[in-house]
Amino acid sequence: MNILVVGGAGYIGSVCAELLLNEGHQVAILDNLSEGHRAAVDRRAHFIQLDLANRDGLAQAVVRSCPDAIMHFAASALVGESMRDPSKYFRNNIANGLNLLDAMTAADVRQIVFSSSCATFGLPERTPIDESFPQRPINPYGESKLAFEKILRWYDQIHGLRFVSLRYFNAAGASGKFGEDHRWETHLIPNVLKVALGRQPHVEIFGTDYDTPDGTCIRDYIHILDLARAHILALGASASGSYNLGTGGGSSVRQVIDACCKVTGKEIPVIEKPRRCGDPPRLIATSEKIKRELGWQPQFQALDTIVTSAWKWHQQFPNGYGD
Ligand code: UFG
Repeated sequence: MNILVVGGAGYIGSVCAELLLNEGHQVAILDNLSEGHRAAVDRRAHFIQLDLANRDGLAQAVVRSCPDAIMHFAASALVGESMRDPSKYFRNNIANGLNLLDAMTAADVRQIVFSSSCATFGLPERTPIDESFPQRPINPYGESKLAFEKILRWYDQIHGLRFVSLRYFNAAGASGKFGEDHRWETHLIPNVLKVALGRQPHVEIFGTDYDTPDGTCIRDYIHILDLARAHILALGASASGSYNLGTGGGSSVRQVIDACCKVTGKEIPVIEKPRRCGDPPRLIATSEKIKRELGWQPQFQALDTIVTSAWKWHQQFPNGYGD
C-alpha cells in the first residue's frame, strides 16, 4: 500500500514507518519537526516538512502523495502542558487534525489509523479497561483525543471515511533504529535510563502513597514494536472501530526502576516526591477486542524485554537524535 505517515518523525510514527517500509509498503512522512526529528525519518521514505495548520499546503501534499491510507500520529501529547495551555491542545489535536480530514476527503482518501490514548478514559473505576468503559477525560489532552475520535465517527457516517482509533496505554521500548527522544522528557523509562547513562543524578518518583501494592502508580507498558504491528493490522480492518492497546499487565513505578537496574546493571538513585497532578493510580488495558477482531498478538510483553530494547537504543544514541 501507499501510506502517508503524518507525524512520522516522532517516537511512535517513526517506528511504524520503519515497519511499513520493512514490509514493502511505500511510505511518505509528513511532519513539522516541532516534536519529531529529521534523523528519525527513515531514509527509505519520502519526507514532507509541513505543519498541519497549513491547510492549503496540506491539501496539496495529500493530493500529491495520493495515499491509500493515512496514519495520523501528529499531536501534542503532554498531559501536564495541556493543563497549562489547553488552547495548544485543542488547536493542534482537533483543529489541525480537521485540516487533515478535510484534505483526505477532498483527495478521496478513505482510510485513517488514528493515535488515540488511554487518557480518553480519565479515572477508570476499575481495571482492566475495555472499550465499553465510559470515556471521561480529566485533562485537555485526553479531551482533544476523545473529540477527534468522535469527529472520525461523523466523517465515517457522512463521508465514508473508514477509521481505526488505537488507544495506546504506555508506549515504551525501541526498534533497532528508532527510539524515544522527547525534547522535554517526562516519561518514566527514558528518565530512568538517563540516570543509568550518568546523564542525570537521580530519578524522581511522583507519589508513593497510592492505593497500590508498593504505593506507586501502575501502568500498562506496551512495546513499541507491538504497537506498530497493531497499526499494520488496522490497515486491513474491514470496518471502522476503536481499540484499546496494552498488554493486560501492569508495572508500578518501582517495578520499572527495578527492571532498569537489572537490565543496565547500574545503581539508580531515587528521590521520592509528591504525586504528579492528574496521574491516575492504575491504568491497565484489556486488548481482547483487537486480538479477536484484527488478530493482534503482542510478542514482546515482558517488562525486561521492553527495557532492554530501550537501553540498547539509549546506549547507542546517548544524546538522542542530537537536535
Ligand atoms: N513517573 C515518575 N517519575 C518520572 C516520570 C514518571 O514517577 O520521572 C511516573 C508518573 O507519575 C506515572 C508513571 O511514572 O505514575 C508513568 O508516567 P509517564 O509520564 O511515563 O506516562 P503517563 O502514564 O503519565 O503517560 C501516558 C502517555 C500519555 C497519556 C497518559 C494517559 O505517555 O501520552 O499515559 O494517562 F496521555
